[in-house]
Formats: sequence, structure tokens, C-alpha cells
Amino acid sequence: MRIPIVAGNWKMNTTVTEAERLVMEMLEKLNRIEGAEVVLCPPFVSLVAVGMMLEGSSIKLGAQNVYFVTAGAYTGEISPLMLSELCEFVIVGHSERRWHFGDTDEVVNKKVKAALANNLKPILCVGERLEEKEAGKTEEVIHRQVTAALDGIEHVVASDSSEYRLSRDAEIAASLVIAYEPVWAIGTGKAASGEQAAATIEFIRDVAAKTIDKNAAQSLRILYGGSVTAANIAEFVAHPQIDGALVGGASLKAVEFMSIIQQTIEIKGSTK
Ligand code: 13P
Repeated sequence: MRIPIVAGNWKMNTTVTEAERLVMEMLEKLNRIEGAEVVLCPPFVSLVAVGMMLEGSSIKLGAQNVYFVTAGAYTGEISPLMLSELCEFVIVGHSERRWHFGDTDEVVNKKVKAALANNLKPILCVGERLEEKEAGKTEEVIHRQVTAALDGIEHVVASDSSEYRLSRDAEIAASLVIAYEPVWAIGTGKAASGEQAAATIEFIRDVAAKTIDKNAAQSLRILYGGSVTAANIAEFVAHPQIDGALVGGASLKAVEFMSIIQQTIEIKGSTK
């Protein structure tokens, strides 16, 4: 049984003060959640403050990006080793990184491996652009992105040991989350339909099964992201293929984000 995940990607929003206020509002309602993992991904500068507030709660923390080198002369970058002291998850390969900051499939693969090697759980984002969807290339694009991102992850070496920590596929599946985020659905209010998302997510699982082991791919959590709101979350999580959501704009509104989490828990709980 896969435990659902609802993750909030705050993107480049909230000052530290605003982040603290938002978490305070959420904590009042969400101190102990059962039935889903909830992950907040604030900007880097708020990780410490938010992390301190989340101590003792079941809400987890994630970063929005990571560089692939542990330390060195890379002005302005944040390393996976640094993040490993602060959070459990890290978003990798978000389309905004791919399209605004030039993260190629090769860079995304290095970031996934660097995250895993430093005991961070990557939330790997994949998704096609509008012109690719209209050209009937969704599966081709997704296949390329997933295959490239997962290439060689079974050989990742943890920084704190010389063992091949991730040599067991089950371990990979437990450490990795994939989010299907069609670029045309992000921030547009035009979410994919539940059926579309479920079909593509099934395809992602099939592609992953060819890269990692088949059983491991069955236990991999795969989320939908793109204009998820309290009004449409039910449409997605009602599909057994969809293990939760990566939420952007709606995760900045405490009441709405709570509702997304609660609906996910109720629907996934009743379809077990
Ligand atoms: P929106 O929910 O604002 O469309 O953003 C989705 C997203 O990019 C989450 O990573």
C-alpha cells in the first residue's frame, strides 16, 4: 500500500516572516496527520525557521532545488549536504527550473543522484509542454525525462559510507517520489483531467519499471501537479494510480491546503 503524499511547493513566495505566519496557521489545524505524508517546500531562506516550527509535528520539510556538488566554489548554489541537515525532501527538475534556468535532463539526473547520495528524497518533476502535447509527443517526452533522470540511480553511493546504499530497488522506491506536472497546467487554472493524469502516471510507472525493478516501481509514489485546488483534488486522488499532489498556488492558502490534505486522506482511506 502506497502512503499518499501532499506536498506544497511555495515557489518564490513568502518572506521568512510570512512563511512563519503561514506555518503557524497550518499547524493550528494540522498538528498530527495520519493517512498521508504532508511536505512543505518553502524557499531556501525559510527552511531553518520553518523546520524549527515543524519540530514535533508530523509535517515534513522539503527544498525546491539543489545543486549536485557537495561543496566548493559554486557561488550562490546550495548543496545536497547542506540540505540534508535541514530537510527530508527536495524538488528536482521542476519545469520552472528546466525552462527558466536551463536544467537539462543530464543536470536533473545528477541532481537526483546527488540528493539520494545525501539521504534526501527527491521529488522528481516531469511533464510535457503545450506544444509537445498538441504534437502528440506527451509519452515521448515523459519517457525521455523519466529514463534520463533515473539513469544509474542504482549505483548511487551514500556520502557517509562506501556501500552501495541504493543497490536494492525497494530502497530506491522508498526514497524517490515522481510528480507528473504537465507544463500547460502549471499556474494556468487549466488542470489536466483526472483520467488524463491517471493515464500518464500509469505510463510513468511502466517506464520506471523498465529502469528500476518492477516491484519497486509498484511501490513508487507518483503525484499529479498543475492547478490543483480544493475544488478539483478529489478528481485526481480518486484514481488509484495517483498517489497525491504537488500543489503550487493553493499551498499558500492555509485553509485550502488543509482541505486538499483532508480530502486526500478521506478518499485514499476509503478506497484502500
Ligand atoms: P500550481 O498548483 O500553482 O499550478 O503549481 C503547480 C506546481 O508547479 C507545483 O510544483
